[in-house]
Amino acid sequence: MHVANQGMVLLGGAMIAGLLAALGFQGVGDPAQVAGEQIDNSQPVGFPGSVIETKAVNDAVNEAGKFAGHEKCVDCHRTEVKSWMASKHSTRAFDLLRTSENALDYAESLGIAPGEIARSSLCLDCHASSKNNSDHTPGVVPSVTCESCHGGADGEDGWLNRHAVYGTRSTSRQQETEEHYLLREEFCREAGQIRSSQLYEMTKRCFSCHVIADEALSEAGHTHGAGFEYVEKSMGEVRHNFFLKPDENLKVATLWLEARQGEARTAAGRLRVMFLLGQMVDLEVSLDSLSGGTEENDYTDELIGRIEDAYELLAEDVVEELEPEEDDPGFAEIAATVGIVEPIYEALDEDGFDPENKDVYSKAAREIALQAKKFAKRNGKELSAIDELELFSDDEFDGVYRPVESRIEKR
Ligand code: HEC
Ligand code: HEC
Ligand code: HEC
Ligand code: HEC
Repeated sequence: MHVANQGMVLLGGAMIAGLLAALGFQGVGDPAQVAGEQIDNSQPVGFPGSVIETKAVNDAVNEAGKFAGHEKCVDCHRTEVKSWMASKHSTRAFDLLRTSENALDYAESLGIAPGEIARSSLCLDCHASSKNNSDHTPGVVPSVTCESCHGGADGEDGWLNRHAVYGTRSTSRQQETEEHYLLREEFCREAGQIRSSQLYEMTKRCFSCHVIADEALSEAGHTHGAGFEYVEKSMGEVRHNFFLKPDENLKVATLWLEARQGEARTAAGRLRVMFLLGQMVDLEVSLDSLSGGTEENDYTDELIGRIEDAYELLAEDVVEELEPEEDDPGFAEIAATVGIVEPIYEALDEDGFDPENKDVYSKAAREIALQAKKFAKRNGKELSAIDELELFSDDEFDGVYRPVESRIEKR
């Protein structure tokens, strides 16, 4: 393992803010102020000693053994790192565990000792990332990191080794052959990288943290993150881009737009796919979570509410509204998803939650997953009819950091 620093220092929001200030990162929220500033390249952006020692860490989201850390990305992805450092995934997700009264309440209900909350509890699954310390003990990284979303990168077989290698030593990205590009993408994908072309896996990552799939945690009072609409939630502070074509990448990952990823890709098409896919994945994750319920309670009520909302949106606001032909290829997976959920929706409406139906819920979730994976490969062109329904906002990017120049195109 390459560990940037072994210091066991706990980093809080104040220190992060201090670091940002030291980097000249002021005027967060006002892109104009940030744009064009000069950064000292000799100074790595990172948290010195951002590793906390801990007894045991859940590995659900991040494979500890593969954790590289944003320090390994910053040389090439300075812009992304800066955006991320100003986002709540970096500044607040972990701090909540140590500073919020609610955190103590939830932990108490679950029998987690206060001292364990930020060290070895299930809370870390979603509020932190995990890594192995150099002495092989599990460590906590106090934020939702790049790799929480893009997949653990490190290790001999890790994707970081091939991620930015375009051929023989002197080959630049512009010179990379199509064949090499495809092999590289495949290698990285198999090694667990989640890129903008894997929209299903990416969407699933968001929902796996933003839907609470744990009845006890939910009953302990933990918020449910109701109404996580994927387009809206990924457009704001989470937005960060690398290929900087300012007019386009406000709305879409510019790497996804590249012709070699597939034909006919546009920002408008991508947004349509993201919006509808978000509803499908919400249905999948909510139904799967519902199968873990034991009785009718706040947990199952929340999930049923989500299922009803997403179903009604797809069935009533999209399919009934547009009446696509039965064989309209554009809407095949949406129509199939509506068909899968319809009987469950009706049964929930009539009889409410039934623990006897666990298998029905989880089977439906698996079937929707297959549809969603297929749907995620679309370019969104055939879905243009949904634009007139104005189901989602395509407001201007309102993130914290808007870069103005491309680093990569200057290479
Ligand atoms: C040596 C430079 C370099 C390093 C180090 C690096 N990257 Fe990249 N990354 C690139 C380049 C160049 C691209 C765009 C080219 C491509 O993949 O085709 C890219 C693209 C990406 C993409 C977008 C892929 C897509 O298609 O959407 C992600 C995600 C990414 N990097 C994440 C990371 C993370 C996370 C780290 C640190 C663990 C990292 N990178 C480290 C150079 C680098
Ligand atoms: C909360 C999840 C999340 C985190 C944390 C995150 N990313 Fe991303 N990243 C995404 C998503 C989602 C996209 C694709 C955006 C889209 O589809 O329009 C993306 C896209 C990218 C791209 C491609 C942008 C383009 O223009 O094509 C790069 C490069 C990247 N991320 C690097 C990073 C690095 C480096 C970090 C850490 C500093 C990081 N990401 C942290 C979710 C995340
Ligand atoms: C490892 C778990 C995890 C993953 C993966 C994750 N998030 Fe988060 N996210 C959190 C936590 C924890 C917070 C902190 C909430 C707070 O500050 O109130 C948060 C906060 C946010 C916020 C700010 C609060 C809000 O709701 O406006 C947004 C936006 C967000 N996440 C979007 C996303 C998107 C989009 C993705 C996927 C691309 C994603 N998240 C992936 C755990 C995660
Ligand atoms: C499945 C992922 C997940 C787990 C596990 C999890 N959280 Fe959260 N937590 C989140 C997300 C996502 C948010 C942001 C919710 C939002 O903004 O909609 C959040 C928000 C919070 C908040 C701020 C909102 C509030 O309710 O005051 C606190 C505090 C919190 N979590 C504490 C905890 C504690 C303590 C644990 C462990 C007992 C825990 N969380 C476990 C995902 C999770």
